[in-house]
Amino acid sequence: MLDIRDATRIFGRKAAVDHVSFRIDGPAFVGIIGRSGAGKSTLLRMMNGLTPATSGRILVEGRDVASLTGAAARQWQSQCAMIFQQFNLVPRMDVVSNVLHGILNRRGTLQTVLNLWPRADIVRALEILDRLGIAEQAPKRAEALSGGQQQRVAIARALMQDPRIILADEPIASLDPMNAQIVMDTLRRINVEDGRMVIANLHTLDTARRYCDRVIGMRDGRVVFDGLPSQLTTGVARDIYGADADFNESATSTAIPTDTSADVEYAARMLA
Ligand SMILES: Nc1ncnc2c1ncn2[C@@H]1O[C@H](COP(=O)(O)OP(=O)(O)O)[C@@H](O)[C@H]1O
Ligand SMILES: [Mg+2]
Repeated sequence: MLDIRDATRIFGRKAAVDHVSFRIDGPAFVGIIGRSGAGKSTLLRMMNGLTPATSGRILVEGRDVASLTGAAARQWQSQCAMIFQQFNLVPRMDVVSNVLHGILNRRGTLQTVLNLWPRADIVRALEILDRLGIAEQAPKRAEALSGGQQQRVAIARALMQDPRIILADEPIASLDPMNAQIVMDTLRRINVEDGRMVIANLHTLDTARRYCDRVIGMRDGRVVFDGLPSQLTTGVARDIYGADADFNESATSTAIPTDTSADVEYAARMLA
């Protein structure tokens, strides 16, 4: 259903994403790995239409994302929910309202300003929180929660949109190992139980091997690996991370910068 054909994105004189092609047919769990600057975030943002391709095409059921306008563009964006490293919750707002923000663009301004949500929506938000094991956090301010809980709230907000695809940009990069596992298990469950496609930018090989059906390795904007986790050999890892890289777990999990520009843009869109 997602067909990326020769997609390129140029910033200035640099190709952040350089002639990338692949297709994803079923509701797979796909990991995208690569060094910082490899083009992972740009590629993710091209998929949901936040960053238009300079050339090439991103086809969804045969329709080019770039050709979607108005209601069709909005519908596509609500079908691909995004999750970020820094959660992007409204810190001082309660958890259930943060989850309801997943469907903000379907509500009128007055309703939103007055925080008037239909009862059915509130019930659904609470059910999603319950499913993710954090129902008891519903009345608390988001900022009072641990990082792992906040990321689960962000996943709940994504599920509120009832998306077909979840695009997760370094979803566990700010979490300790235990919370990272909870969040990855949650994404996997959503993938398996709901049949939603999950595409996650991940910075460790280990996580990619453990959770993904398929792994795409990027280097300098290009796809240098596309295969099964079991095919991620040492040689392949060297292609992805560079010959000089010490690509064991500790090396590939360090120095991942926060994707602030994407975070701010997404937050602005959510609140618009
Ligand atoms: N909005 C932008 N303006 C200019 N350059 C950008 C922009 N976004 C990303 N880049 C550049 O594109 C390349 C890929 O960035 P990015 O997609 O964020 O990589 P990754 O997510 O793998 O770290 C980097 O060289 C980055 O500096
Ligand atoms: Mg990134």
